[in-house]
Formats: sequence, C-alpha cells, structure tokens
Amino acid sequence: MNKIVILTGAGISAESGLGTFRDEGGLWAQHAVEDVATPEGFARNPALVHDFYNARRAQATGARPNAAHQALARLEAEHRGEVTLITQNVDDLHERAGSRNVLHMHGELAGALCHSCGHRWPAPVVMHAQDPCPACRAPATRPDVVWFGEIPYHMDVIDPALTEADMFVSIGTSGQVYPAAAYAQHCGRLGAVTVELNLEPSSNSRDFAETHYGPATQVVPAWVDRVLNT
Ligand code: APR
Repeated sequence: MNKIVILTGAGISAESGLGTFRDEGGLWAQHAVEDVATPEGFARNPALVHDFYNARRAQATGARPNAAHQALARLEAEHRGEVTLITQNVDDLHERAGSRNVLHMHGELAGALCHSCGHRWPAPVVMHAQDPCPACRAPATRPDVVWFGEIPYHMDVIDPALTEADMFVSIGTSGQVYPAAAYAQHCGRLGAVTVELNLEPSSNSRDFAETHYGPATQVVPAWVDRVLNT
C-alpha cells in the first residue's frame, strides 16, 4: 500500500473539544448554514459571519491535537510510501500534531482573504469585515474558508492523488458534502482499498471495503499501528 490518501472531517477534532456540524447539538443546529457559510450570507451580514468564525478561531486556538491527529502525523513520518492528508477541517490540529503535507480543501481559520483583490494573509485572532486589506486597503476582509457554492481548494493536487491512491481512508466525516463524499466510491472503482474510521457508519459507509467504528482517538491509532506493522 504505497500511496495512502486520507480524508478527515470534523469528527477527528471532536475529542479535542471542537464541535462537529451534524451531530446532535452540532454547529448546524446552532447556526443557519445559509447565514454563516455562504457568500450570500456574508453579503447580507458580514459581522454575523465574522462573529461565527472568530468564535471558532478562538476555540481552535485553545484546543490541542488528540491521539488521532498524532497517529496520522506518525503515519506520514514512518510510512514507506506517500501519505496525502486531505482535510475538510479549517482548524490547524493536524499541523500542530506534526503533519506536514495537509491539504485544507475548505480553507483555514488561520487565513484571511480580501474579497476585493484576492490577497491572502495570516488571520488576526479577531477579524472584522471593515479591516483593511494589507494589499489594496479595501475594507473587504473575509475568512479564508470555502463556503457552500464555492470551489474547494487544492483540487489540482487532490484529483491526481485520488487517482493514484492504493488506499483511501476516510476519518470522522458524515459523507454528506461533495466532492469529498464521492472520493471513496471513486477510489474504490480505480482499485484502491477503501477504509472508513468513524464513530458510526456514515451516509456513504457502503462505499468502503473495510470499516472500524469507535472514537477516533481509539480507532485511528489502532489502524495506523496495523498499517505500519504490515
Ligand atoms: N470520533 C470519530 N468520529 C466522530 C467522533 C469521534 N469522536 N465524533 C463524531 N464523529 C463523526 C460523526 O459520526 C460524523 O459522521 O464525525 C462525523 C462528523 O460529521 P459532520 O458534522 O457532518 O462533519 P463533516 O463530515 O466534517 O462535514 C463536512 O460540511 O458543513 C460542511 O464545511 C463543513 O467541512 C464541513 C463539511
């Protein structure tokens, strides 16, 4: 299994204290998606959107990587092949656990973007819509995250990685948001081994040849041990 592609979702950060989206009481039970995770919502009320992401940025800053993040960093360091880590998460817990090759397909809380000139810069802890862009000075600051209806980042790297994968592993995601939700079926059809590591069966669990259910801090380190010792 030389080339391993991993996809992570909010569930891998749940035991670090960061909320998931669709579990009971999750972020989408507390906030209307159309208000805080769409370009239209940002245009209507940028302050509400910044409040939502400022709160998540502060929470992520105070969180610590857990054993699942650390196990994936160990896999990247010790696996005798290529490990590509694609995450739907916008926190930096993978990086803080030591993973280096991380593709944030939905952007990062740590990033700011000017929606006037497209300039990107490191996000301040607290961001406001009127903050002037460091490049063009326009009061046009937004979080550098991908909202519904926008194109995910790094697809030019993700697509070939999926095509070449010998193994595709999905961790902590409900499998409800595309294009990520189609990756297991795509890789399986190309002959890759497909593995789901999750608290419970996801919406696309039938797309996986191998499944292990339980808390990520238990099932991910156990799976990494098996992969490194085979
Ligand atoms: N260990 C493992 N899995 C867990 C744990 C845990 N401790 N806790 C929850 N999970 C699982 C849930 O069973 C669920 O399948 O994590 C998954 C979380 O699903 P969602 O809340 O839908 O999060 P995610 O799949 O990452 O959402 C994808 O949707 O709203 C967009 O941009 C947002 O990136 C996000 C995307």
